[in-house]
Amino acid sequence: MKSNHPDVAEILIPADELQARVHSLGHEISTAYQGQEPLLLSVLKGSVIFLADLMRTLTIPHAIDFMAVSSYGAATESSGVVRILKDLDASIEGKDVLIVEDIIDSGHTLAYLRGLLLARNPASLRIVTLLSKPSRREVDVPVDWVGFEIPDKFVIGYGLDFDERYRDLPYIGVLKAHVYG
Ligand code: IMP
Ligand code: MG
Repeated sequence: MKSNHPDVAEILIPADELQARVHSLGHEISTAYQGQEPLLLSVLKGSVIFLADLMRTLTIPHAIDFMAVSSYGAATESSGVVRILKDLDASIEGKDVLIVEDIIDSGHTLAYLRGLLLARNPASLRIVTLLSKPSRREVDVPVDWVGFEIPDKFVIGYGLDFDERYRDLPYIGVLKAHVYG
């Protein structure tokens, strides 16, 4: 689908499809955590829009917390080396933790994060990601819920950025190559 935005090559996932999928994920997650009170762990900053929409579809009580990580290396490629910029506010020991991610690309960020969080002894640790690029995977990470599998294209919008821009777009779009090329 075409976009009016001069930097967007195409709309990959329109806003209404995002909303519909987030709602069905919310239903599945509410069912999976019936009788529990999970902690939704949002990985800043890309997942904030997804988190905000997802949490409002949940029918179970839950808490949220945030972590910020950064991978060294070029802006559009993950290097596999992850640095913690902001840690969680509280202990996750004995808690049912659900990592909320925007996108899994190589898998390095999540693999690292998962190892780090498991060492803190949560009762359970599951992962939901809005997007996944399976063809780019370098490390295997067990993901419990995937919103959409997408091709190997650099995408922006619905929280995802390029150089801190485009997070406000209501859809997932493909960035024109000239913007980062
Ligand atoms: P991974 O470690 O390669 O899985 O990289 C994951 C992180 O890279 C994501 O959390 C994003 O911050 C970023 N990323 C990967 N692909 C894209 C993309 O297409 N658009 C925007 N950010 C991306
Ligand atoms: Mg991210």
